[in-house]
Amino acid sequence: MSEAKATKGRNHGMTLTDHTTGKSYELPVLKGTLGPSVIDVRKLYGDTGHFTYDPGYTSTGSCESKITYIDGDNGILLYRGYPIQELAEHSDFLETCYLLLYGELPNAQTKAKFVNDITYHTMLHEQIHFFFRGFRRDSHPMAVMCGVVGALSAFYHDSTDISNPHHRMVASYRLIAKMPTIAAAAFKYTLGQPAVYPRNNLNYAENFIHMMFSNPCEEYKMSPVLAKAMDRILILHADHEQNASTSTVRMAGSSGANPFACIAAGIASLWGPAHGGANEAVITMLQQIGSKDKISEFVRRAKDPKDNFRLMGFGHRVYKNYDPRAKVMQQTCHEVLEELGVKDPLLDLAKELEHIALSDDYFVQRKLYPNVDFYSGIIFKAMGIPASMFTALFAVARTVGWVAQWIEMIEDPAQKIGRPRQLFTGEVERPYVPMQKRK
Ligand code: SDX
Repeated sequence: MSEAKATKGRNHGMTLTDHTTGKSYELPVLKGTLGPSVIDVRKLYGDTGHFTYDPGYTSTGSCESKITYIDGDNGILLYRGYPIQELAEHSDFLETCYLLLYGELPNAQTKAKFVNDITYHTMLHEQIHFFFRGFRRDSHPMAVMCGVVGALSAFYHDSTDISNPHHRMVASYRLIAKMPTIAAAAFKYTLGQPAVYPRNNLNYAENFIHMMFSNPCEEYKMSPVLAKAMDRILILHADHEQNASTSTVRMAGSSGANPFACIAAGIASLWGPAHGGANEAVITMLQQIGSKDKISEFVRRAKDPKDNFRLMGFGHRVYKNYDPRAKVMQQTCHEVLEELGVKDPLLDLAKELEHIALSDDYFVQRKLYPNVDFYSGIIFKAMGIPASMFTALFAVARTVGWVAQWIEMIEDPAQKIGRPRQLFTGEVERPYVPMQKRK
């Protein structure tokens, strides 16, 4: 998006009045090209001596960004202005990676070069394979990915000068290229099978499937439908504005930390069941529900404020409408199950659960709809991916979003090290108490 189109700038201020002193303060309002304007509070503490207070950042913009736009009320998701539905329909994952990184769709030459550059970075340094052996065979793949991706920071000393744009891009390419190889190796490790090397004659999604499911003893027959479904799933998960894991990467990166270590921090955050770990939790929940007659009991528990059970795959901080990715995911679900000739009772259960929840006042009033994680697990399960790998797959896809946002953060002249303040409600100052005087 060219600067000329961006209409960032003051269009009207806000006046804040402190009723204890009667003083008023003018706060500038900044307007973007789409979405809500922001009240610029950068001078608030200096002018008023007050902090803002917003646990979970429900009303706080942490940065300016040009990468992804979400309209939660209307269920809109744009990557660099392109609707997610059109990218899922017409693009492919590496083209989408180029778009997220560079801001424009590539032409035939730049696309061919980008695909070539990524393809020839997919192999891991042989020493890295030794890291896997330090884990128990039953380790969760996300634990392995946190460890191995963090360990990349010990390998690449030629691309860690984050002030150097070339270094930033080299680190980003390596991360996008190697994430599927690491994720697949983590999966193979849990099976006791040898890691499968990437093949340069396969596209990104095919390579990931091949590394996950092939073995040295026989030729692997690739299903074009599965490869296309995997590619589309990667597109759907590639970026999503300032979500928890992306904000984690930005926060870690704001101190100038090693890029590989920052992405490992993002993987850790994504693993949580309230975030990327929800896709695994949805399958566990559906298996716990087991049959349609049990749905009402689980819906009752989800509505009970005293019960911390929540309907996994439902609700979203931003989407107060159907997550547009969930719609594409549901359609992909039907295609994959049909292609595989799989009849998964969990799909019928999920659709019945969605139907019941979306007609229940509790969910309607709170605008709780299925999100990207609600159907994805059923597809992954049908593809033979174990539930423990669902979030690892999400991490493979989201790596491009993390690195694109990390680069944007570093290049943003307004960016500083992230250092929020607090509302302190602890003990006021008090003298030390010697042991003999304690109760
Ligand atoms: C992802 O941010 C992103 O963009 C994330 C993501 C991405 O691409 O990066 O989209 C990926 O993380 C999707 C979300 C996956 N998580 C889940 O499916 C877990 C289940 N969902 C919830 O935990 C919850 O909806 C969150 C965490 C997703 C959002 O939580 P919020 O925005 O903090 O909402 P909230 O907790 O303030 O809920 C508002 C109300 C509450 O009830 P009241 O206090 O008003 O009575 O809705 C209720 C909540 O109890 N509620 C739910 C619910 N989600 C919210 N009740 C039952 N089941 C749910 N799933």
